[in-house]
Amino acid sequence: MTDSATPTGSAPEGADPEALRQRALAALLTARERTALLTDSVDDQELTAQHSPLMSPLVWDLAHIGNQEELWLLRAVAGREAMRPEIDGLYDAFEHPRATRPSLPLLAPAEARTYAAEVRGRALDVLDGAALDGGGPLVRSGFAFGMIAQHEQQHDETMLITHQLRSGTAVLSAPVPPAATDAGGLPAEVLVPGGPFTMGTSTEPWALDNERPAHVRDVPGFFIDTTPVTCGAYQAFIEDGGYTERRWWEPGGWEMVREHELTAPLFWHRDADRWLRRRFGVTEEVPANEPALHVSWYEADAYARWAGRRLPTEAEWEKTARHDPASGRSRRYPWGDEDPSPELANLGQRHLRPAPAGAYPQGQSPCGARQLMGDVWEWTSSDFLPHPGFSPFPYREYSEVFFGPDHKVLRGGSFAVDPVACRGTFRNWDLPVRRQIFSGFRTARDL
Ligand code: AVJ
Ligand code: FE
Repeated sequence: MTDSATPTGSAPEGADPEALRQRALAALLTARERTALLTDSVDDQELTAQHSPLMSPLVWDLAHIGNQEELWLLRAVAGREAMRPEIDGLYDAFEHPRATRPSLPLLAPAEARTYAAEVRGRALDVLDGAALDGGGPLVRSGFAFGMIAQHEQQHDETMLITHQLRSGTAVLSAPVPPAATDAGGLPAEVLVPGGPFTMGTSTEPWALDNERPAHVRDVPGFFIDTTPVTCGAYQAFIEDGGYTERRWWEPGGWEMVREHELTAPLFWHRDADRWLRRRFGVTEEVPANEPALHVSWYEADAYARWAGRRLPTEAEWEKTARHDPASGRSRRYPWGDEDPSPELANLGQRHLRPAPAGAYPQGQSPCGARQLMGDVWEWTSSDFLPHPGFSPFPYREYSEVFFGPDHKVLRGGSFAVDPVACRGTFRNWDLPVRRQIFSGFRTARDL
């Protein structure tokens, strides 16, 4: 069912415990296949190396994935003893910042693989016997299993970022995404009329704490770009001197541009009269019709100001993606309530790049906006704040400690995120200077 702030009394989405058990099993297996691909595609030296001070060594992510699974599925859900209590501290993201992780006495690649596999074997037994129709909130509807599958997929996206940052020849490849066949006829922007809509969810079984609860927001009417801003449009900003004019930038953004002498998105470089980019070890011409990628919030904000527009607020973004004016309800996804498929959105690292702007006509939202799910994470103007009625679950460090003005919200998900960790209510966040992430944006304006 869809979310409505007025309770309807219907059963929550997918409440059948056997269906949720199968779903959790499939999600855990899919995540582990992805993890294996990302960690088996480089040798041990590359697994333990730090490819960027912004990232952990891949072998840290691998053992951290296993450790979180042990903590939540074996210890919290099943009440088991710690398998290796001495390693918990090493894989606690809050004890050691990313830059210091290579100097820790981490499990070696073979040990990390064995540990993660042993945890997984036991976790699948726990899933097999869990009473998903009752029990506490961790087990009910398979929440902890869904949370752990999402956690692994989030680290799979993080590991893909590490792959993008590593130098050397390509080790990953994927088919090109579908073309945008009817993009020529698309309007540049679409109208979202003013009025209330339901933001967040109280019914999606595996929604994380920060997506809850469903609540009504009154959002005045606005226009929003039909597609994310393209590399070609972004080049016009560059060529118009965008990075040399202070007036387009927030003070922190201008500082960032000056300090690092920025002239373009991350991974771009100029070659005579054209822009090239490096993508997973391959250098290629920047495609004009593809959504801009690897821009910081500051760059997105500056572009929007230059274009005489602004970033959408998070509530505007979610209304664009979910509000169905015909029923007055909010959908699970832009296209409706059915799960993502390859015809609807570019997700799951199926393609290692965004699809051209205007692709996925079947995935558009009721107002006609496209590519809201997948392709690129979209920066919003909003700080990462709790929804009214928020309560931390199951741990404060997932969301609550990040609330406040330091982090900006990104919505929609990139080509690198799996469907299990992406939905109409899913919220991502990062610092406004970050641009190694698979981030892009679209712009908006008042009526
Ligand atoms: C939600 C993507 C910001 O990677 O920092 C992973 C997800 N939390 N392990 C992150 C997460 C704990 C988180 N983001
Ligand atoms: Fe984590």
